Amino acid sequence: MENMVSSNFLDVYKGKEVFVTGHTGFKGSWLTYALCKAGAIVKGYSLAPATNPSLYTLFENEVNIESVIADINDASKLQKEILSFQPDFIFHLAAQPLVRRSYKEPLNTFGTNVMGTANLLNAVIHLTKPCSCILITTDKVYENKEWNYPYRETDRLGGYDPYSASKACSELVINSYRNSFFNPAHYNQHQKSIVSVRAGNVIGGGDWSEDRLIPDIVRAIAFDKNIIIRSPNSVRPWQHVLEPVFGYLQLGVSLSQHPSKYEGAWNFGPSNADNLPVIDIAQQAIDIWGKGKIDLQIDPNALHEAKLLKLDISKAINELPWKPKMDTAMAIERTIQWYKSFYNGEQTALQLLEADILYYQSLLNN
Ligand SMILES: NC(=O)c1ccc[n+]([C@@H]2O[C@H](COP(=O)([O-])OP(=O)(O)OC[C@H]3O[C@@H](n4cnc5c(N)ncnc54)[C@H](O)[C@@H]3O)[C@@H](O)[C@H]2O)c1
Repeated sequence: MENMVSSNFLDVYKGKEVFVTGHTGFKGSWLTYALCKAGAIVKGYSLAPATNPSLYTLFENEVNIESVIADINDASKLQKEILSFQPDFIFHLAAQPLVRRSYKEPLNTFGTNVMGTANLLNAVIHLTKPCSCILITTDKVYENKEWNYPYRETDRLGGYDPYSASKACSELVINSYRNSFFNPAHYNQHQKSIVSVRAGNVIGGGDWSEDRLIPDIVRAIAFDKNIIIRSPNSVRPWQHVLEPVFGYLQLGVSLSQHPSKYEGAWNFGPSNADNLPVIDIAQQAIDIWGKGKIDLQIDPNALHEAKLLKLDISKAINELPWKPKMDTAMAIERTIQWYKSFYNGEQTALQLLEADILYYQSLLNN
């Protein structure tokens, strides 16, 4: 029974204090909304929404959340906000998450991703209450050998571009703080449990970031422009955003119940068969929306980006009540329909968010 997946586990969050960094971003918005729906008392800490539209802005007036707009690099402000809130759970998503921007802003990327993580963990040292901390890194933390084998949590860390390297560094920071200050062997003294989570590329409605495949595709289709594809054959583990979001939530619950059992790093990704090249995603989006045109612009001098990256998710499947519920085709279908409905004015972002969460919960309960 322990491995049975159902959405009832969300009840654990009811009335609990949950601190979310990056709540104004794409994944943070989905997580925050799911937590509010579960009855959690949520405090967010992020920069102001950076995209227009922004999913967070589209629903923030509908939920009861304390939103602090501040920089994660401001260690004393962050510590003050955490200590005054006394969270039971912390989800850390605030980051500079874009590979191409990391080439333009390497120092900002390293600062925010590495020192932001250290600032957060340092604040947790001073927290006097038990706390389960789920820190989000990425599948790009692995030393990428561009081969067909999926990476396991024990594989070597690496990172060619500044973004990937910054997230690999943040894994080292997490490990160091866990060993030095939150060692599972001394849980009874500090009462903190720390995990890192490495998820692959996620898709879903409400992402309007620059330089990301799905936002670029839907912007092009909605405004009758060509879809420019630069790396048609890059293969990524595409997954609907609710898969890792519910994985983070499940991990939080498991940690709070067995604090020393679930320590360490966790991969969340799709099943191995679900790794698709970029060109297939673009074509499927066109087929689902019913219009759109691809314009291949392969740049031989393009900045280096990983071309082949697969994740081994056996640890999460075997040890947690979690497994992927949507295949990539379903994830693309739901995502493209979300944007189509939004741009055609058929449903609001809030209605679409709500419908996707209910749909995902129905998958968990079946
Ligand atoms: N979207 C993906 O496909 C994907 C894949 C793997 C990992 N991730 C990771 O998931 C997390 C969330 O990504 P996302 O896609 O929602 O990105 P996003 O850009 O939509 O959101 C980033 C969030 O971080 C906040 N932030 C950035 N710099 C900050 C700073 N200096 N101080 C305070 N807050 C700051 C932003 O305000 C925003 O709330 C990131 O850690 C990212 O690296 C994302």
